[in-house]
Amino acid sequence: MTRESWQTRIGFILAAVGSAVGLGNLWRFPWMTSENGGAAFLLVYLGIVLAVGVPGLLAEFVIGRRSRRNPVGALSDLSDSKGWTAFGHVFVVTAVVLLSFYSVVGGWILRYVAASATGAYFADPGAYFAGIDYGIEAVAFHLAFLGATAAIVLRGVRRGIESATKLMMPAILVLLVGLAAWGLSLDGAGAGVDFFLTPDFGYLRANFLDILPAAAGQALFTLSLGAGTMVTYASYLGEDRSLVADGTAIATLNTVVGVLAGVVVFPILFALGAGAGAGGPGALFVSLAGAFAALPYGQVVGVAFFGVVALAALSSSISMLEIPVSFLVDEYGVSRPTATASFVGVFAVTGSVCALYPNVFSFVAGTLVDLLLTGGLVGFLLFAGWVMGRGALDEYRRGAGGLARSLATPWLYAVGVVIPVFLVFTFVSGVAA
Ligand code: PFF
Ligand code: NA
Repeated sequence: MTRESWQTRIGFILAAVGSAVGLGNLWRFPWMTSENGGAAFLLVYLGIVLAVGVPGLLAEFVIGRRSRRNPVGALSDLSDSKGWTAFGHVFVVTAVVLLSFYSVVGGWILRYVAASATGAYFADPGAYFAGIDYGIEAVAFHLAFLGATAAIVLRGVRRGIESATKLMMPAILVLLVGLAAWGLSLDGAGAGVDFFLTPDFGYLRANFLDILPAAAGQALFTLSLGAGTMVTYASYLGEDRSLVADGTAIATLNTVVGVLAGVVVFPILFALGAGAGAGGPGALFVSLAGAFAALPYGQVVGVAFFGVVALAALSSSISMLEIPVSFLVDEYGVSRPTATASFVGVFAVTGSVCALYPNVFSFVAGTLVDLLLTGGLVGFLLFAGWVMGRGALDEYRRGAGGLARSLATPWLYAVGVVIPVFLVFTFVSGVAA
């Protein structure tokens, strides 16, 4: 059987942007920003996206397109080494860890779309969230979200992932722009914009070593780096086009959506007098729901907002499920439906554990994900830099324009040495703090 490939260039870009744009932009990013000093955090985060995110994305693309394999097969084929093959299996674990908690949050979102329409949380947003966050109903909504994810992945790369993301991404952008306009029109929105976009340099200097690991973790998560999704998506590339151009476009679009999300969320929170919102994963649900309950057209805006979040979450969760599915299809010759069904079985169980036990959820969504993504990306970077070497340079240059070509060698030094050192240092200092 011939391996699948993307139908169009824009199809690949939108699928990768679909993976990147997700709960990371709309839920985790505002939450991290509000806990780490607003614009000061934004500044550090943007620097890391540029200096670590884009080169890292290119490393995953180079590995994927060169090998035309899932992450396990890619590391195995390109190295012929037992050690790297074994390491490759970490990415199957990462996918399981990621989708387990992501699907629970996806379930909450589905629930909030419905609850916005009916106004179910309007009387008491705090009590509403506390009533649905963990437990048997959270399991049910997690399973619904997982089912939607599987329905797309089941249809394959072109008919599933590519056609779904081609519809979803424009819808997300249009709705977000509309929501941002609405948020900015609210009384008191200015304070929110200020918090989000005017950096407090005193805060930045005083807290730099706390901001750094949070910003690095957020940059990896938001660009879907270190999980093998970008290796997998690039493995379906047929033509010789510039990975540098595509990678830059993908990182830029993801950043635009993140900033737009902040422009939606912070004016709404400040307009309501909620300030930046207290920390914690649920805080954003509670504060935003409170805002929708109190503001004009809240019901409509609530459906639109949580609808956008649901679409964004789905276009990311399919990229998580695609990692282990492509692994079974490539390495064991299993059919796509069987591979999808097998992993849905796994996720049904692991996600339910996250939906039932708050402690498990927090550990998985926080420390464990940070560790796996950091370790995974460092692995890919060292692989591109030291194992592929010249091959990585050739693949990077294939289809690239003049400016991008001249950056090929510096890029290889960055991914082989500088960025791994930075990531390990940052991660360790974050754990030690
Ligand atoms: N980038 C996604 C987001 O911002 O929500 C999350 C993600 C997707 C992380 C896929 C890792 C991944 F492989
Ligand atoms: Na993202």
